[in-house]
Amino acid sequence: MHPILNIAVKAARRAGSIINRASLDLGQIKVNVKQQSDFVTEVDRAAEAAIIDIIRDAYPGHGILAEESGLLEAAGSGDIQWIIDPLDGTTNFIHGFPQYAVSIGIAQKGIVQHAVVYDPNRNELFTASKGGGAFLNEKRIRVSACNKLADALIGTGFPYRMFDHIDAYLGLMKDMMQKTAGLRRPGAASLDLAYVACGRLDGFFELGLAPWDMAAGSLLITEAGGLCGDLTGEPNYLDTGNIIGGSPKVFGQLLQAAAPYLSAKLKA
Ligand code: IPD
Ligand code: CA
Ligand code: CA
Repeated sequence: MHPILNIAVKAARRAGSIINRASLDLGQIKVNVKQQSDFVTEVDRAAEAAIIDIIRDAYPGHGILAEESGLLEAAGSGDIQWIIDPLDGTTNFIHGFPQYAVSIGIAQKGIVQHAVVYDPNRNELFTASKGGGAFLNEKRIRVSACNKLADALIGTGFPYRMFDHIDAYLGLMKDMMQKTAGLRRPGAASLDLAYVACGRLDGFFELGLAPWDMAAGSLLITEAGGLCGDLTGEPNYLDTGNIIGGSPKVFGQLLQAAAPYLSAKLKA
């Protein structure tokens, strides 16, 4: 394993143990509302602080973009930036719904090179380095062989805070309900992407995500032999926040299905 990925794994596991400990007594946890339907807890903050401590110890010059702290340093030495979601799926976590993860991506000049998504409930560690394949608990993973939307299990995330593209989303969702084997909304985008990488889902789409929701998970998919793009298939999803991912055939069919719903803004 690349030494920088080792540090990322150490940080993700440390955050995971903070999250697991806190999950034993959810009643104790103070919840703050950042904006409508957007929650943060002291657990998100403690997990993020632990991750940042480990990074700064090992790589003091690196840039960091973290959900709760924002842009801490612009991309530092070697143009490297860590992109961190310390607890992806906070709403699930607060409810004791066991589907959430720690997500850490490491980008160089804006291209994600290394990825860790860690599910502390199941002790499942998803890792990838660009060009080196994707792994679940050190075993190689691949996207599913699914090549027909009609056979596909598709993950998604509902709009819950920003409703600019709600009509496009609902149009696509209505189609997906009728054209696929099933739709799921598990509630932690990074883990949904990891599930595409290991073939538990055949594809995924969501609009309005943040870079820390997608950075690590998207590399897992491409390193597992799948494809990711924005709604037009271009590789701009970290900027636009809109992502489609899947096994190669399902990715193509999801793009086709989305095309009729793309407003001018979604095509941009
Ligand atoms: C959220 C989760 C959710 C997705 C949201 C994200 P958070 O992240 O990934 O699945 O639908 O768009 O914001 O806020 O729990 O880190
Ligand atoms: Ca998130
Ligand atoms: Ca989060």
